[in-house]
Amino acid sequence: MAKKRILTGDRPTGKLHLGHYVGSVKHRVALQHDYDTFIIIADVQALTTNWETPEQLPRDVREVAKDNLAAGIDPNVATIFVQSMVPQIAELTVFYSMFVPVNVLRHNPTIKTEAAQKGYKDLMYGFLGYPVSQAADITFCKAHLVPVGKDQAPHLELTRKIVRRFNELYAPVLVEPESMETGVLVGLDGNAKMSKSLDNAIYLSDPAEEVVRKVKTAVTDPARIRKNDLGHPEVCTVFSYHKEFNQAFVAELEPACRKGEIGCVECKMRLANCLNELLDPIRDRRAYYDEHPEVVDEILRAGTERAINEGTKTLAQVKEAMKIDYFSLDTVKPK
Ligand code: TRP
Repeated sequence: MAKKRILTGDRPTGKLHLGHYVGSVKHRVALQHDYDTFIIIADVQALTTNWETPEQLPRDVREVAKDNLAAGIDPNVATIFVQSMVPQIAELTVFYSMFVPVNVLRHNPTIKTEAAQKGYKDLMYGFLGYPVSQAADITFCKAHLVPVGKDQAPHLELTRKIVRRFNELYAPVLVEPESMETGVLVGLDGNAKMSKSLDNAIYLSDPAEEVVRKVKTAVTDPARIRKNDLGHPEVCTVFSYHKEFNQAFVAELEPACRKGEIGCVECKMRLANCLNELLDPIRDRRAYYDEHPEVVDEILRAGTERAINEGTKTLAQVKEAMKIDYFSLDTVKPK
C-alpha cells in the first residue's frame, strides 16, 4: 500500500529557528520514513508580507532548504520544493477563491494577529487570501497529514472546509487532511511565540557562543533576584525550554528552583549546553551544504519537478470534476 502523505513547510523570510523546529521541523524529520513527505518552501506566502523586498528570496529559499537538510531531512526520501515554481498551486488558489467568503478570511484569528503585529489596516488581497493559497499548498498533492504549530490551526480548518465544499460541489477528488497539533515555543523574551520579527529567536544555524549569549538574555521568574530566592518555574521561559529540550533534567530542576537551590545562571548554562548538544549535528550537516550550494539547488530542482508532476495529476482531476477540461494538450501530460 502506498504511504500516506505529509505536506508541511515554511515561509522563507529568513533562517529557521527553534520555534520552527518544535512546531514542525522535528516532526517532519521523525515522520519522513513513515510518510511520503512534501516540504514546501512557501515563497509566494513570504511575498504577502515581503513583496517590497523579493530580492531576498533567492538567499532565503536556500537558507530554509539548508535548515531542513541540516535538521535531518533526507533528500532521497522527502521532497523539498519551491511554491512559486509549481503553477498548479496558483491555479487551485484561483478555483478555491470562488467559494471562500471574504468574511471567513477577515475573521481568521491568525490573519488578525499577524495583521495587528505588522500594523496592517487596509489588508492586501494576497495577504487576506493566503489561507486559501495554503489550502492549495496542502491539497495539490493530496496530503493526508499536516504537522504544524497551533497558530496554523485556523488555516487547516479552512483547508478542510474547502476540500469538503469542493468535493460536494463537483466530485470527490480532493483529500481532506488531518492536522497534527504540535507545540508552540515561547520566545526568549517570554512573548507567546518565537519569531524572527519579534527578535526573540535562537536559529538552528546560530554558533554555540551565540546560543549561550541568547540564553543568558532569556526572561526568567521576576521574583528571583538573588540565587536563593524561591522560584516559580511555571512563569519562567527557561524552565519551559528545559521541559521542551531537556526533559531528563526537569524532575530535578523543578523542586530545586522552587526552593531556591539552583541559581538562574546555572540553570541557563545547563539549558545552553543541552541546546548546543541538539544543534551540534545540525550545524555539522549545514556546513556541508554551505560548501555545496549546487547540491542544494539540485535537491530543490528534483523536488520541484516531483511536486509539479503530482500537481499536474491533481489538476487534471480537478478540471474534469469542474467540467472545464475542454480539450487535451500534448504539452501537459503527467509522467
Ligand atoms: N503558514 C505557514 C507558516 O507561516 C507556512 C506554510 C505555507 C505552510 N504553506 C503551508 C505550512 C502548508 C503547512 C502547510 O509557518
